[in-house]
Amino acid sequence: MARVSIIGTGYVGLTTGACFAHLGHDVTCIDIDREKIARLREGDVPIYEPGLNELIDTNVREGRLHFSDDYTDGLRDAEIVYLAVGTPTAPDGKSADLKYVYAAAASVARALNSPAIVVNKSTSPVGTATAVARILDAERPEFAPWRVASNPEFLQEGSAVHDCLNPARVVIGASDPESADHVASLYDGMTCPIVTTDLNTAEMIKYASNAFLATRISFVNEVARIADALDADIKTVTYGMGLDPRIGPAFLNAGLGYGGSCFPKDVLALAHMGASAGIEPLLLESVTQVNSDQRRWVVERISEELGGLAGRTIGLWGLTFKPNTDDVREAPALDIARQLADRGATIRAYDPMGGQHARNLGFPGVVTASPYDTASGADALLLATEWDEFLTVDWNRVAYRMRGSLVFDGRNRLDAEEIARSGLRYVGIGRRTVEPSTDAEEISA
Ligand code: UGA
Repeated sequence: MARVSIIGTGYVGLTTGACFAHLGHDVTCIDIDREKIARLREGDVPIYEPGLNELIDTNVREGRLHFSDDYTDGLRDAEIVYLAVGTPTAPDGKSADLKYVYAAAASVARALNSPAIVVNKSTSPVGTATAVARILDAERPEFAPWRVASNPEFLQEGSAVHDCLNPARVVIGASDPESADHVASLYDGMTCPIVTTDLNTAEMIKYASNAFLATRISFVNEVARIADALDADIKTVTYGMGLDPRIGPAFLNAGLGYGGSCFPKDVLALAHMGASAGIEPLLLESVTQVNSDQRRWVVERISEELGGLAGRTIGLWGLTFKPNTDDVREAPALDIARQLADRGATIRAYDPMGGQHARNLGFPGVVTASPYDTASGADALLLATEWDEFLTVDWNRVAYRMRGSLVFDGRNRLDAEEIARSGLRYVGIGRRTVEPSTDAEEISA
């Protein structure tokens, strides 16, 4: 079993640390945010991720997982040090900002008492691990040449613990074969394929994977708009497409466009890497463009359905960028709420986990206490995030609270017939509109 230290206690660092501890390694998670570390030591996990609290609890109790706000203390005798810090989009709006990765690498070099393999887990452009090696060599020449690796993360928020413990593959790029083997040994006992390669290739696998998934989403959203115009049903279209094993069914759900802290910035960063290398990233630029257009298109469709947005009240179900997380970064719901508000609509919203975070980001509306409160007085409801709670509502109760009758299913997950039976009008993304059923109209009349 190895002695592992992890720099950064965000979604990736914390989940990776807890999972390595679960696999039996001795892990210390380090963060310079003292308050965060103090909370973690008291068992207060600052993010919501199903199963993470329990995993941290068990491993802390069993003595395999520790937290430290001090590099020297947290890195003592570490064999492998992971960098899992943020790589936000830089002020130029395109490239990845690597200041946190580089600062963490320099701090690690200064604090380590003996040489260790430094592994980058933060999503960073091709060439970052090599740059990290240069920083390490410069900071502590007595330990040079430093051994570095890139071990990108593929977990999804909302199922991070499950993904971390059951990966489809592990990718390890390393400066030398021994380091690759050493990092690979952390995953002993896992049955998935391990791809070992050079540093640049490992870094590229991560970007290419995220950009490809984002491309599928933009593709399907564009086709959904065409389906909408030509009166075809996108859900059946994607079902039919997905049965082809060369295509497969995953990541073909039309919706409000992708959000979150990864796809938007990673597509931009890969396009920027290409452009910097003299390759015109035509497809990647369109993927981003289609994603922004999708949000505008949804706002326009709602406006068309309501005959304008000024003075209308729109109920928004869901604020997080996807269900089962409290993360609202780059959430389509927030962007759409701003666009609706800019055009004169009043927004009421509910989210099981993201309300406070949305308020912190300047959400332009009222956060209510339940999906039914959100519906009160609404001319239209928009399902923006497909939390289970929204898929099991009592539509008669919703209809009773609403002023208008439009239900816009931004995720194509609601039961159109049931909605119609309660006297409401169902509109989806690239789907046929379902009018209120005659019975329901008679009942409400
Ligand atoms: C994504 C990748 O899926 C992970 O493999 C990767 O590790 C992670 O980024 C990362 O780089 O850290 P994540 O951002 O957590 O994971 O969320 P996803 O489940 O991929 O969803 C991203 C966005 O795409 C969400 O807004 C979601 O609603 C949207 N989406 C997803 C669709 O609109 N349609 C789909 O069919 C699937």
